[in-house]
Amino acid sequence: MEWSTAFTEMFGVRYPIALAPMGGSAGGELAAAVSRAGGLGLLGSANGDAEWLAREAPIVAATGKPWGVGFLTWSIDVDAVDVALSYGPGAVMLSFGDPSPYAERVREAGALLIVQVCDLKEAERAAGLGADVIVAQGTESGGHGASHGRSTLPFVPAVVDLAAPVPVLAAGGIADGRGVAAALALGAAGALIGTRFQATAEALVQPATTTP
Ligand SMILES: Cc1cc2nc3c(=O)[nH]c(=O)nc-3n(C[C@H](O)[C@H](O)[C@H](O)COP(=O)(O)O)c2cc1C
Repeated sequence: MEWSTAFTEMFGVRYPIALAPMGGSAGGELAAAVSRAGGLGLLGSANGDAEWLAREAPIVAATGKPWGVGFLTWSIDVDAVDVALSYGPGAVMLSFGDPSPYAERVREAGALLIVQVCDLKEAERAAGLGADVIVAQGTESGGHGASHGRSTLPFVPAVVDLAAPVPVLAAGGIADGRGVAAALALGAAGALIGTRFQATAEALVQPATTTP
């Protein structure tokens, strides 16, 4: 199967797969593993905690592969973005909130801007801001997001049509190669995957405990 898409070409990665920047759990080791394997590793910086970034960013930066950092936009300020940019990410991803105050800063630093959207209004705003990549998040998504939007299957093609020619990543309920292939069939340039990567040795989460 041919994996080359507008997304892989833009980032110089082998596979059309990005690690979702899961707050706290998508740390340096997980982002590094994804980037080394040929995807785009995105650190989950959440609110931009400087100590967390100082610990995790150098780990993924040391791979020499493309990587980025993602935020919960409502919980950050320009200082958080500046601190993240000081580590030289290739991309900054903004989710859940107004990305407008930060778009220019990201661009000026030479990083690509990825904006995650939960509805068409947000998609229009992201395209208007000049986002380099738009992530269309369906309601199947784990973690943060809108609870009342559209599910991935109908939402992704709507965003693809609205945002063209901006590449779109599908997010929500994608956990294997079949899901990635489905995302491409919907017109997306790849998939952003969270929950599946949470269940890895590299994620910064406690191993699950089971009771008999
Ligand atoms: C545990 C967890 C934490 C998350 N935290 C963030 C976050 O801090 N910032 C963000 O942009 N997205 C966050 N997300 C949402 C992801 O960006 C993405 O939309 C989602 O993981 C895709 O769906 P999936 O989990 O079914 O793959 C989180 C997702 C999970 C599962």
